Amino acid sequence: MARSGRGLGRQPQGPSGPGPGQGRRIVLGITGSIGACKAPEIVRGLVKAGAEVRCVLTPNGSRFVTALTLATLSRNRVCQDPFDVKDWDMAHLSLSSWADLILVAPATADIVARLAAGRAEGLLDGVILASTCRVAVCPAMDENMWKHRATQRNVGVIRGWGYEVWGPGAGELASGKTGVGRLLEPSEIVERCLRLPRGS
Ligand SMILES: Cc1cc2nc3c(=O)[nH]c(=O)nc-3n(C[C@H](O)[C@H](O)[C@H](O)COP(=O)(O)O)c2cc1C
Repeated sequence: MARSGRGLGRQPQGPSGPGPGQGRRIVLGITGSIGACKAPEIVRGLVKAGAEVRCVLTPNGSRFVTALTLATLSRNRVCQDPFDVKDWDMAHLSLSSWADLILVAPATADIVARLAAGRAEGLLDGVILASTCRVAVCPAMDENMWKHRATQRNVGVIRGWGYEVWGPGAGELASGKTGVGRLLEPSEIVERCLRLPRGS
């Protein structure tokens, strides 16, 4: 698998030196869920562990968390638009071959459906479709959306391709109801990333 990382070679360095994430190259996809407000904590945890993180923010994800926050914490530019020529050294095929893990957290019902359908209209969908590395998806949504047969079918489809689906957890949801659909805690997501075998 080609992982030349064209133009993406900055070495990761956590604030306190090498950590368990050292050498890991993670693309974090953030989609339009209220859970996106937890994405900065995920970025912070991964970077602190020494991983290099590049964020891909969907247009609806940017309604919940700013690119500025993600860029500041990841210390990297945030990619948002597949047609932005400024990002052509980083986006789409470059990010796909650079990453050794693509993590989608939070993952909306819609991105799960797009992945299951093999869509590539948006940058995040395209990066994932073009990738051969490990993909981990952390769903976050209303309980009824999660339990709907369409979502369950889509989750089954992406699992069948080898994508990992982490969560969702149970607890208080954005609606105020209690149920299944909650994004896993950022610390748990970070730990799961760091537990993955290297270079897989
Ligand atoms: C306030 C608000 C909160 C939302 N929270 C979620 C959510 O937690 N999970 C989800 O699947 N969709 C949620 N949605 C709907 C998504 O934002 C919508 O499906 C959108 O098209 C997803 O786009 P994206 O997956 O490209 O980011 C929410 C919408 C609004 C307005």
